[in-house]
Amino acid sequence: MPLVELEKNLDYWVRSILGTTSHKDLQKLKSDLIGKLGIVTSAFGILASASSEQKKSYGAVLNRVKEAVEKAISQQEKKLNDYAIVEKLKNESIDVSLPVENCKFGGLHLLTQAMRSIRNYYQARGFTIMDGPEVETDFFNFDALNTPKHHPARQSHDTFYIEGMNDTLLRTQTSSVQIRTLINNGIPIRMISIGKTYRNDQLDATHSPMFHQMECLVVGREPISIGYLKSELKKFLAFFFETNDVVLRFRPSFFPFTEPSIEVDCRCTKNGGKLVITSVGDKWLEICGAGMVHPNVFKNCGINEQVYGFAFAFGIDRLVMLKNGITDIRNLFNLDQRWLKYYGTC
Ligand code: DAH
Repeated sequence: MPLVELEKNLDYWVRSILGTTSHKDLQKLKSDLIGKLGIVTSAFGILASASSEQKKSYGAVLNRVKEAVEKAISQQEKKLNDYAIVEKLKNESIDVSLPVENCKFGGLHLLTQAMRSIRNYYQARGFTIMDGPEVETDFFNFDALNTPKHHPARQSHDTFYIEGMNDTLLRTQTSSVQIRTLINNGIPIRMISIGKTYRNDQLDATHSPMFHQMECLVVGREPISIGYLKSELKKFLAFFFETNDVVLRFRPSFFPFTEPSIEVDCRCTKNGGKLVITSVGDKWLEICGAGMVHPNVFKNCGINEQVYGFAFAFGIDRLVMLKNGITDIRNLFNLDQRWLKYYGTC
């Protein structure tokens, strides 16, 4: 195409380029104009037989046309891209009014469900819900609980101490929160505390280095009997295992912070792998540690008046396992989706 024609057509080509509505049309124009065999590209052939004077002026025209075409093409490319994004977003907009039939919701873990329901149960009965730190000092976890440094009972807890921090450890029992409550809250006390506890135990089907406990402490100025403790335990078990058919057995035991100390068993039977609490059961299941608060504990917390109290603690993981027929504690923590699905938590 002669150069004059080329210049005449430039306007038309630019308008055509800017008028395209699809990448396909734009690509076609691009290849027709500046592709290998395109009109503008071929026009450069004229330079081959031109004098050096002509080369200068022809070259200027040719480059101007080529650059104008290229500029229009890249401008249009950008416009088409932007348009495509807007269209995509339009189509992808979320319709919040759509029904949610096929949506998948997560659920609460069995342990979370248990902890929440235990908390609600005690809160509804007027107990205070207390919290304490998992990284604790020796004083709250042992000393004040009448378990000084060289007390043999310390050996039964394989404790994780924090490196480089004297007397700091991961609490081995939620009984530490008893001490915090006795020091900070006035008498009377009716409290529970739920949380994580840690012991350096090898992970197996029945042990985990991290587990959950629920602690209960009741203290008053009026004499409190062991019968009160028994009725509290019975009420709780009836609630948790959803039965009124609860028979308990108290066995003498030893904890440094209670006197007398007892371990509590509950009559039960196994039914299809699940444990069922029943008064006609043929088995006794060890349920918790409990006792009447040792006077030294009150003294250690600066309480010098005459007060009375009982305390007990459950392993929550164990209760959840018993209630659901779960035999391996590791399943509670390894987040296997199939397992979680089976128990309705995912
Ligand atoms: N803290 C004890 C443990 O983890 C359990 C326990 C026993 C708690 C007797 C108590 C109690 O409050 O009175 O082994």
